[in-house]
Amino acid sequence: MCGIIGYVGGKQAAPILLDGLRRLEYRGYDSAGVAVLDRAELGVRKKTGKIDEGIARELAADPVQGTMGIAHTRWATHGAPSDENSHPHLDASGRIAVVHNGVIENYEQMRERLLAAGHTFQSSTDTEVLAHLIGEHYEKYQDEPDRAGALTRAVSGALREVIGTYGLAVVSTEAPGVMVGARRGSPLIVGIGHDENFLTSDANAIVAHTREVVFLNDYDVVTMTAERFDVVNLGTDTATVQISKLEFDAEDSQRGEFEHFMLKEIHEQPRTVENALRGRIDQEGATARFGGLNMTPAELRGVQRIIIAASGTSWHAALIGEYLIEGLAHVPVEVEFAHEFCYRMTPVRRDTLVLVISQSGETADTLMALREAQRRGHKALAIVNVVGSTIAREADGGIYMHAGPEIGVASTKAFTATLVALTLLAIHLGRMRMLSAGRALEVLRALEALPAQIESLLGQSDAIRELALKYASADDFFFLGRGYSYPTALEGALKLKEISYIHAEGYSAAEMKHGPIALIEETTPCVFVIPQDSMYDKTMANLEMIRARKGPVIALATEGDDLIGKVADDVIFLPRSQEELYPILASVPAQLFAYHLAVARGCDVDKPRNLAKSVTVL
Ligand code: F6R
Repeated sequence: MCGIIGYVGGKQAAPILLDGLRRLEYRGYDSAGVAVLDRAELGVRKKTGKIDEGIARELAADPVQGTMGIAHTRWATHGAPSDENSHPHLDASGRIAVVHNGVIENYEQMRERLLAAGHTFQSSTDTEVLAHLIGEHYEKYQDEPDRAGALTRAVSGALREVIGTYGLAVVSTEAPGVMVGARRGSPLIVGIGHDENFLTSDANAIVAHTREVVFLNDYDVVTMTAERFDVVNLGTDTATVQISKLEFDAEDSQRGEFEHFMLKEIHEQPRTVENALRGRIDQEGATARFGGLNMTPAELRGVQRIIIAASGTSWHAALIGEYLIEGLAHVPVEVEFAHEFCYRMTPVRRDTLVLVISQSGETADTLMALREAQRRGHKALAIVNVVGSTIAREADGGIYMHAGPEIGVASTKAFTATLVALTLLAIHLGRMRMLSAGRALEVLRALEALPAQIESLLGQSDAIRELALKYASADDFFFLGRGYSYPTALEGALKLKEISYIHAEGYSAAEMKHGPIALIEETTPCVFVIPQDSMYDKTMANLEMIRARKGPVIALATEGDDLIGKVADDVIFLPRSQEELYPILASVPAQLFAYHLAVARGCDVDKPRNLAKSVTVL
């Protein structure tokens, strides 16, 4: 959600910033802008719209020169998307430029004060207020010979007045060659190059230039030139700088031969499922093993209850996790929206383990839930995709998804990788309790069969496209299922609505009869997730109720099911598996169905309206 890239070095900055913006675009695409510094000249260009139609054209028509600069791609929080509200924003003197992710909560108050002091504002953003505030602090250090120090002190001084979250990058014509960055609650990463350095909110933007990075901590302020960077923590006045290595390639975040990132990521799932499994199956012990749970077997055995907190797609994964952990380990699980967990009274017993799930590792609601659990004295584990992300670093232990960079805003491969991680965790906990070796091995073997099975599902993409075309004019869809297939249906509906803008509702197939069945008519297709599992007969009865009301039925059913073809209008067959793994298998055709339907309706699949990857505001 919003992306920042900054460069200071010996090369022309604009092409590096523009390339970075393209790699960051999934983080926000309302508008974008750059500020490039050529000695004491600041060239600022900003434009509403996506990168290629907006800022890239603007820069081609009106280029900027200089070897350092900052850039930003925006997902609007304060102020509608417009050229004026785009970042960078300047201070009152026009000498200081700021790009900012996050939300300044007390900006109205600051704005009033600055207005009274004679400031005028070009935009309605909180960031412009912050820029003016930095400028006001800078006045105090006007005459200091150490220009880098003066800019750093001005930024630090302004941030001490600010309530809210920020990842920010600042440059000034008064301090050519110097960039100042700071973070609180919004990620910021230093990329270390040779005679050049980078600042970004997302490693994807710089991995083509360097793999050596420092993940800044909350309250860190970094002062950076081409040759060096110094970090100080506003809270402690000291800072620990740990250099990490990025483990993925620039190509991993390229589209390759695929028309969209989402399609590429759907097709990566045989490999990402394999990666999520790698090294984690212990055949001999008929269990799963993890390197980073940071809990002893005794501690894990002592867990009497689990709360899983997450948001969006990860919340759907959590619901499936509830079925998995309760089914395989018999440990009671409660699933909470991360934001609800933080703000309502949730009594958490001492013997409860809190688990958060976040693909990005930066979702503000989920980070808050993690911190809230820790504040109450609980161990909190996390299932995370992005290595080095805030949640990954702050959790007491956890499991990486190993899905690689996910650029499509609608999550696909990270979702299925989460389900693999949850299945393994359920087996791990189950084997410490009463789960038999035989039953565990059945599920483990079925997990190992998944990559080939997903490959065969991907082979049905053309047939699924035909099906999507058949239903492309529908205005409403239901996704229905029972047991494990209920949360799977919720996720299927979410995928469809977020990328095709078709109203889609995920519902329990059994609950339909208590109300929503009133909505069923000939024009309301129902996607039934109905594998041959323990709920099959019951779901079939619910399917008949829909048929009796003339609702068209698309079934996601198991190969070899001879009955389903007779009752459903269309069927997509899933390979036979264990009950616990049908959510993974059913999700692949559901993703393809949403994808093809969105393409058929001319939607921008990778950048759906109003959305952005990773929501870092509360
Ligand atoms: C939808 C989607 C979102 C995210 C949600 C939480 O496809 O991806 O619903 O799941 O915003 O994000 P993470 O998992 O990064 O915490």
